[in-house]
Amino acid sequence: MNTLLGMLAILLTHWADADPIVFDDSTGYGRQFDGIGGLSGGGATSKLLVNYPEKQRSEILDFLFKPNFGASLQILKVEIGGDIQSTDGTEASHMHYPWDENYERGYEWWLMKEAKKRNPDIKLYGLPWGFPGWVGEGSGSPYHNVAQTADYVVRWINGASKVHNLTIDYVGIWNETPYNITYIKTLRKVLNERGYKHTQIIASDNKWKIAEDMLKDKQLKDVVYAVGCHYPGTQSSPEARKLGKTLWSSEDYCQKNDETGGACWARVLNRNYVHGYMTSTIAWDLIASYYTHLPGWDMGLMTAKEPWNGHYVVSPPIWASAHTSQFTEIGWSYLQHGRGVGTLPKGGTYVGLVNPDRNQLTVVMETMTFEHSKCVWDQKAPFQVAPQNVTLSLQGKWKDIGKMNVWFTQMGFDGKPSIFFEKKPPLKLYQEPYYLSQQIGSFEVLHEDENGYVRQMVTQMTIPWCKKADGVQKAYNVFGDITWSDISVQFDFRVPTENGTSGVFVAARATQGGCVSGSTAGIFFFALPDQFVLSTDLRRQHVLKTGSLSYTPGSWHSIALLVKGNTARLSFDQTTVYSGTVPASPAAGWAALGTDSFGLADFDNLQINSVAMET
Ligand SMILES: *[C@@H]1O[C@H](CO)[C@@H](O)[C@H](O)[C@H]1NC(C)=O
Ligand SMILES: *[C@@H]1O[C@H](CO)[C@@H](O)[C@H](O)[C@H]1NC(C)=O
Ligand SMILES: *[C@@H]1O[C@H](CO)[C@@H](O)[C@H](O)[C@H]1NC(C)=O
Ligand SMILES: *[C@@H]1O[C@H](CO)[C@@H](O)[C@H](O)[C@H]1NC(C)=O
Repeated sequence: MNTLLGMLAILLTHWADADPIVFDDSTGYGRQFDGIGGLSGGGATSKLLVNYPEKQRSEILDFLFKPNFGASLQILKVEIGGDIQSTDGTEASHMHYPWDENYERGYEWWLMKEAKKRNPDIKLYGLPWGFPGWVGEGSGSPYHNVAQTADYVVRWINGASKVHNLTIDYVGIWNETPYNITYIKTLRKVLNERGYKHTQIIASDNKWKIAEDMLKDKQLKDVVYAVGCHYPGTQSSPEARKLGKTLWSSEDYCQKNDETGGACWARVLNRNYVHGYMTSTIAWDLIASYYTHLPGWDMGLMTAKEPWNGHYVVSPPIWASAHTSQFTEIGWSYLQHGRGVGTLPKGGTYVGLVNPDRNQLTVVMETMTFEHSKCVWDQKAPFQVAPQNVTLSLQGKWKDIGKMNVWFTQMGFDGKPSIFFEKKPPLKLYQEPYYLSQQIGSFEVLHEDENGYVRQMVTQMTIPWCKKADGVQKAYNVFGDITWSDISVQFDFRVPTENGTSGVFVAARATQGGCVSGSTAGIFFFALPDQFVLSTDLRRQHVLKTGSLSYTPGSWHSIALLVKGNTARLSFDQTTVYSGTVPASPAAGWAALGTDSFGLADFDNLQINSVAMET
């Protein structure tokens, strides 16, 4: 199982002071993950990027868009230029006048194409901040003539397709400005009529208010694909949640891109889902490519504002994005709250995400203090954190995962260094062998490459509590049902070359467990490196038969024992080594396996059949 763990700023050990954090998909999944994005525009925020020397410009674009490289952005949102000041400048309209149409102006077309070149799966999203005066016939409102405004916006989408071969996946209404329901419905209608059924409407790029209207107006609810809220502060409204529609933080972050900004962004990416069920988060802005002292300077995921010398800075938010975006794709699912999504006992959050084939799990954890992760919308300190150890408990489909890959980021403060997106040694997860009931010795699940197997771990006599088990230097595991009589048991085993046991056994009709395990009777087939021993006890004091067999430590072999009535058949590496009679008593007992002495031994591919099923 290919498993990835994207992880932020948290220490993990085997040791915990609280209940384990459970990741379990057995009761289903949470919402679909819709991607992490950056917003170019709102306005003119990528202005200087286009002027960079080709080499550095290409490197910067790789840090933003190239999959598994830097921020690996999954959505690019751009301003639909309207010839208006939209924060840090104006961006050109594709229609300065009603009779004008031009789809080459500005840099957003170029940027979208560069993003698509690097990641053909990136989603594109356009939103107007304002409109040329002729839209609305000089009334000052784009809702004065909703058909005209819809025509203007859909022409931009059409230009993207016809001139640039770009598919616009999402379109918004009017940035952070009151919406008009008639306009939203008209926009949907015009999109459909012109062949853009696949372009989905995100509304209203303001606060959650539209959710209230969507609850009252079924048609409005149907035409809006996702409710997009700006700066939700990780919370969605009760009305928005009641809708059952997709919820997005369609603009967020707005923070200088230092360590605090990176920490804010990391916190927001997790918490927008943990607290607000939002499945996409988009940063304003994509890149700080505008001059210092313009409003909100350095508030991009990274900074590139010196095109004359090619200097740029890959800032902390790039790596905060990477923890999620490098280990997910749009279309993955979150786990359910309480079963892989939630808050850590002493502050911080975690989210679990699963791919559509349900065979990859990504976990992103963050814990950081309020002071060091302040976001613009934070009014007061709403949380406390303290150092903590956490234990991950993988259940459901994940129960067999024995190893997770770890990436770590620490935003450095108070003299501590910053560490960005560092690959740590994999996290080994202790696993208890299923079904095997350990009576003597200690068995656990280990992994080599993709294969899991069970190893007996005890290498020397223990200090016992059970006096009667004293002195039995054999590891012993029972499984199945004590009434089993005619069965076959087989498995593969390997004696490690270092600290290995003197042999392994397979048994049927094993009679005892607990403190009297040492005196257990049954049919025992011991495979030692130079012989086999068939005995009617664990201690190997009542030997029925010995014979030749040979193997050397370090390689895998298989043994099988079949008992039926008063006969037994012993096989080693698929060859029968003995077939003959055994005593009628004991007539029934557990199946068992173990080692001939304390020492390491590996077990895999255990199979048990009732003999009636044997041919
Ligand atoms: C929305 O636009 C329509 C069409 O121009 C107009 O009739 C209506 O009054 C507007 N609604 C609001 C709430 O402004
Ligand atoms: C347009 O883009 C699609 C991928 O989105 C590609 O398959 C197709 O070849 C492109 N067409 C042209 C004319 O470049
Ligand atoms: C975490 O566990 C380690 C031992 O594994 C211990 O030294 C450390 O004090 C623990 N930290 C906390 C905060 O409990
Ligand atoms: C074998 O035991 C020795 C100590 O006796 C230990 O140093 C070594 O790591 C062990 N090897 C394995 C594979 O467990």
